[in-house]
Amino acid sequence: MILSAEPADSGLQGEITPPGDKSISHRALIFSSLAAGRSELSGLLESEDTLATLRACEQLGAVVERSPESIFVTGTGGSFKPPSNGLLDMGNSGTAMRLLAGILSGQNFNSTLSGDESLNSRPMRRIIVPLTQMGADISSSEDGTAPLLIRSCNGLKGIEYVSPVASAQIKSCVLLAGLFASGTTRVKEPHLSRDHTERMLPIFGVKLPSPCSVEGGSQLKACRFAVPADISSAVFALAAAAMTPGSDVLVRQVGLNPTRTGFLRCLEAMGADVSITDRSAQSTEPVGDVRLVFNGALKAIDVPESLVPDMIDELPLLMALAVTASGVTRIRGAAELRVKESDRIAVMATGLRKLGVELQEYPDGIDIKGGRVSGGHVESSGDHRCAMSFAVLGLVASTRILIADAEFIATSYPGFTDDMESLGANLQVVEHL
Ligand code: S3P
Repeated sequence: MILSAEPADSGLQGEITPPGDKSISHRALIFSSLAAGRSELSGLLESEDTLATLRACEQLGAVVERSPESIFVTGTGGSFKPPSNGLLDMGNSGTAMRLLAGILSGQNFNSTLSGDESLNSRPMRRIIVPLTQMGADISSSEDGTAPLLIRSCNGLKGIEYVSPVASAQIKSCVLLAGLFASGTTRVKEPHLSRDHTERMLPIFGVKLPSPCSVEGGSQLKACRFAVPADISSAVFALAAAAMTPGSDVLVRQVGLNPTRTGFLRCLEAMGADVSITDRSAQSTEPVGDVRLVFNGALKAIDVPESLVPDMIDELPLLMALAVTASGVTRIRGAAELRVKESDRIAVMATGLRKLGVELQEYPDGIDIKGGRVSGGHVESSGDHRCAMSFAVLGLVASTRILIADAEFIATSYPGFTDDMESLGANLQVVEHL
């Protein structure tokens, strides 16, 4: 599908409630599927990624029912059941594959995790190494990618794992394997990555002996869990408002976990008028309403490397935003972007160059010079966040931007086009160029 993003004739106005948080939705589905009893999950994201997790959880023995407001999950009460054909398809979702790999490593049956072309080319040694240290038996392709064959387990042992990267997927994978291991499992990371697993496990009845550690044999219990709106989806409307003259946009009740709000801190540092009201807490997560009023003052920044993990999924959008700021924006320490759903540095650099943007690519980042952006045709390379970032940039381009492979937006934000149109953006699906 090709999406056409037209230049805006006026500012964006109005309010939206973005869909449920993707990271938290995956975890809510997985934890409730392991728990004893029937959990009620509200606000859950239903996108391609989380539906892959839901289907896998059903294959592994969870029973899922729906009401108009909630999803009810009756868990297996301990271990998973062997999937009927042994194969679990994780689609495009790295989170689904890596978190489930941790749990499946501790089960007494064989299973195979596979995904689409993008997922089956992403690095899996980062989880195979610690899981093997714990006693798991996993085969991958020679270059360390999926499909992953996880063999029936003869007992895992707890480890203290020092992760070389700040990655919540690695951390969560090891901690979840730790639930099926003897003794304590602890993870240390170079910088605190999103901490949803650590916040959520206690709600599902698992006490953490110390931060970022679990005790083997801990049992999960069903609960009522409310998923906040996804800050990683909300940012598209906020960035669009920050760059489009005359805009005033409010996003309601989004998750404001400090490990996820790096983009808001960058917006402020760039001079945007961003304010937060109605702060409260939903289940384990801080939430609030975020308003952005256009003030025409965006200036380039050097993104502090310490903020990179707190905005890892927002960096493609920051690259789009940098195009509209005066000066050169510098991003470094972001080599992880090269192993996401696509090589996000290369995909954004290639697209932005086609739109006439001056930039310099580095192994771990990019420099982007603000200025005029022309229209044109860009590839999103099957990457949902790159596709949405180019769509936002279309609002301020001289002519329309056409984005290929835009159907991948449904990976995380199926209502993106509708939400943006409700604020006044003009996005259209075109069949042919
Ligand atoms: C996620 C962690 C991050 C993030 C991804 C979701 C999670 O990946 O990019 O979209 O839910 O744990 P890494 O752990 O690889 O940094």
